[in-house]
Amino acid sequence: MTATPDCRICGGTLHEFFDFGRQPVADAFVDPAGGTEEFFHRLAVAMCTSCTMVQLLEDVPRERMFRTDYPYLSSLSTVMQEHFRGTARRLLDTELRDPGDFLVEFGSNDGIMLDTIRRAGRSHLGVEPSTGVAEAAAAQGIRVRNAFFEEETAAAVAADDGPAKVIYAANTFSHISYVDSVFRGVDALLAPDGVFVFEDPYMSDILERTSFDQIYDEHFYFFTVRSVQAMAAHHGFELVDAEWLPVHGGEIRYTVARPGVRTPSPAVGRFLEREKAARVTEPGTLTRFGANVDKVRDDLRALLERCRDEGRTVVGYGATAKSATLTNYCGIGPDLVSFIVDSTPAKQGRLSPGSHIPVRAPEAFADPYPDYALLFAWNHAEEIMRKEADFGRQGGRWIFYVPDVHTA
Ligand code: SAM
Ligand code: TMP
Ligand code: ZN
Repeated sequence: MTATPDCRICGGTLHEFFDFGRQPVADAFVDPAGGTEEFFHRLAVAMCTSCTMVQLLEDVPRERMFRTDYPYLSSLSTVMQEHFRGTARRLLDTELRDPGDFLVEFGSNDGIMLDTIRRAGRSHLGVEPSTGVAEAAAAQGIRVRNAFFEEETAAAVAADDGPAKVIYAANTFSHISYVDSVFRGVDALLAPDGVFVFEDPYMSDILERTSFDQIYDEHFYFFTVRSVQAMAAHHGFELVDAEWLPVHGGEIRYTVARPGVRTPSPAVGRFLEREKAARVTEPGTLTRFGANVDKVRDDLRALLERCRDEGRTVVGYGATAKSATLTNYCGIGPDLVSFIVDSTPAKQGRLSPGSHIPVRAPEAFADPYPDYALLFAWNHAEEIMRKEADFGRQGGRWIFYVPDVHTA
């Protein structure tokens, strides 16, 4: 028997509630010519019985995930461009009113958020370890440091550029298993009255919608307001605001400050009440989630097998990192989904991790249209279905698997 590790936040006991088995690095697309050996790990999730943080049991070495050729480009979605433009404008109007205020974003990717801060002429720095996307941001004139955000990096930024009024991260803080080092870095870099703002997928939405494909190597923690409040307090900070966001299937934007500096918003208490009422941390809820995951797997396999047996063509839409968990856990390969179309140049011409489904450019979708399109990028449904409206007009059907398996 292997020992269960302790909670990475508080050292408490972990209760494992789902095991997806052997899974690949979700953004490591495979060269069909061979030559690269795939790295697999055990993907299992647990909840801490003390601080309630949901977390993976194994972490993949960070250099295997966030490499020079990390393929994810934030700016490929126009909805996300709009989301981050709005986010930046709000920060400029609230926290960054003084022309001297300095903002640091970690996980700045291709500069989707910092672009607006730069255009406003504000002092900024992106901290981004994946060299390709860091260079894409730098090419637009955004200041970027090609490094992992952690204690040493933050201390160096503080020494070079002075304190930050805002430290911001989107879809990144929950990717970092070593939060103790990040909080020490925030402590070293944040101005006394500054705020640390981060937004990440919301565990309550994942449970409610059975969006289990949010669970993959890069997503190490699954936050709730309760667990973030506990984590902030454990590291000498205070959660002062929480706001639900309608992106990536439901996220929360958390605002953390030094204790006593800000009056906590009533929203924090409201979320805590709602999470309690939804029994988010109860073992029964987690067991039910597991049963729902297996129902989605069985229903989706049955539908895809029926399509195959009836000679209908199925193509995947969006070679998301999420689809690595879905395809590998459900045993979906090129026999059930002929290929996946995706707008990311670095994914095209490659094979999906583990499941080895070929990835093609979006032009392949209409050439000719398949009978069914399995929407892996369900969090971009509106944008994609608007763009591909002709598919439906010509009789094509979309397959969804969140919150359950259905077609439209
Ligand atoms: N913020 C963008 C967004 O929301 O679209 C990018 C999110 S992307 C899923 C996660 C990014 O975090 C990647 O670009 C990755 O290289 C970066 N990252 C991972 N670990 C990091 C760390 N310790 N410090 C800074 N960035 C990190
Ligand atoms: P994400 O769900 O992690 O944001 O990944 C979305 C993936 O879907 C990414 O690989 C880009 C791709 N995509 C398209 O192919 N077409 C689109 O219109 C959008 C919005 C995304
Ligand atoms: Zn804990």
